[in-house]
Amino acid sequence: MDSSARGRHNLRSMARLDTYGRPLRNLRISVTDRCNLRCSYCMPEENYIWLPRKDILDFEELSTLVDCFTDLGVDKVRLTGGEPLLRQGVDKFVRMLAGKEAIRDLALTTNGILLDDHAESLADAGLHRLTVSLDTLREDRFRELTRRDSLAKVLEGIAAADRAGFRPIKIDTVAMRGVNDDELCDLIEFGRRYDAEVRFIEYMDVGGATRWSAERVITRDQIVELMSRRYGGVEEASSDPAAPADRFALPDGTVFGIISSTTQPFCASCDRARLTADGMWYLCLYARIGTDLRALLRGGASREEIVARLGTVWGGRSDRGAERRLSERDREALLSPDQLRTDPHLEMHTRGG
Ligand code: GTP
Ligand code: 5AD
Ligand code: SF4
Repeated sequence: MDSSARGRHNLRSMARLDTYGRPLRNLRISVTDRCNLRCSYCMPEENYIWLPRKDILDFEELSTLVDCFTDLGVDKVRLTGGEPLLRQGVDKFVRMLAGKEAIRDLALTTNGILLDDHAESLADAGLHRLTVSLDTLREDRFRELTRRDSLAKVLEGIAAADRAGFRPIKIDTVAMRGVNDDELCDLIEFGRRYDAEVRFIEYMDVGGATRWSAERVITRDQIVELMSRRYGGVEEASSDPAAPADRFALPDGTVFGIISSTTQPFCASCDRARLTADGMWYLCLYARIGTDLRALLRGGASREEIVARLGTVWGGRSDRGAERRLSERDREALLSPDQLRTDPHLEMHTRGG
């Protein structure tokens, strides 16, 4: 082993813990802030400020940063957006990441519209897992919820992912009162067709969710109750303690998940961080301030220097954003459209869903 490889080995073996003793294991990379949907819980406004093109990191730059993160202990990487399949050549980037020994789990979250064209090449490039966002199975509702007419494309995308061999596909559904609460069981039935694991996500008051209100949230307890009423007993199934989803089993063995970030946040075991397409690094979905890794990288910092910086920043991490929000009274949307316009990095579609 040469001396720099030895240095990296030493760094990895002493994974940095933050101020609450949480390791950094899970990196979510938003490869583009652009999206081809306008989901009401994420992009309800008419106009958005996009990241400047010149600031977007190319795949070599992103790959260098990923190496720095794996040196620090990251072994799970998820590509998100915006819509990650809108980024030209994303399959090529998947191939670059799949070739990295340190990455034990490589996943991608998509809205599914372009999946029909990409599923096979993603599988071929070495992607391990796929999550598709799907909130409704009704065309009119899909149009209303996303302001686009693309449900058929999403369903074709899921079928293509199944054919390409992704198993189990995960389906993420944001559960919203008065929007899709009468469809949760239909989504379970749909998931069964593909042996997909459906996960219901509590509507979160993240940046970008400017129409959020507490009344719209369907809580974990309410979802369990709803499922029990329809299917009979719902049993808790095994879950990874660091994963956001709690898993449940229906009497016939069908497993579904609930991500209760709003009413029962998982901050205590959160091992994740987010990198935006322009190289800003955020330690929490709710964080207002990030670390500018693009400046460091383009300023000529070495891998060791970047790793040292990541370690220092992670070591000082004390974020528990969702828990802090839970303790607030009279909770309303986190940020107003005017506040969001001051910095696109505050948007969920920039920092990755
Ligand atoms: P697996 O790697 O398959 O276990 O994925 P996951 O269960 O970690 O789910 P994923 O990373 O796809 O996240 C699913 C949903 O959880 C997201 O779409 C968000 O709604 C929510 N979520 C993801 N990351 C965070 C986070 O850092 N904080 C909070 N509070 N919620 C998050
Ligand atoms: N609440 C919950 N989940 C959200 N996402 C985006 N905005 C929100 C929100 N306000 C997540 C959903 C979606 C993914 C792309 O981002 O899981 O499927
Ligand atoms: Fe919808 Fe995801 Fe696009 Fe946001 S980024 S509008 S949640 S598909």
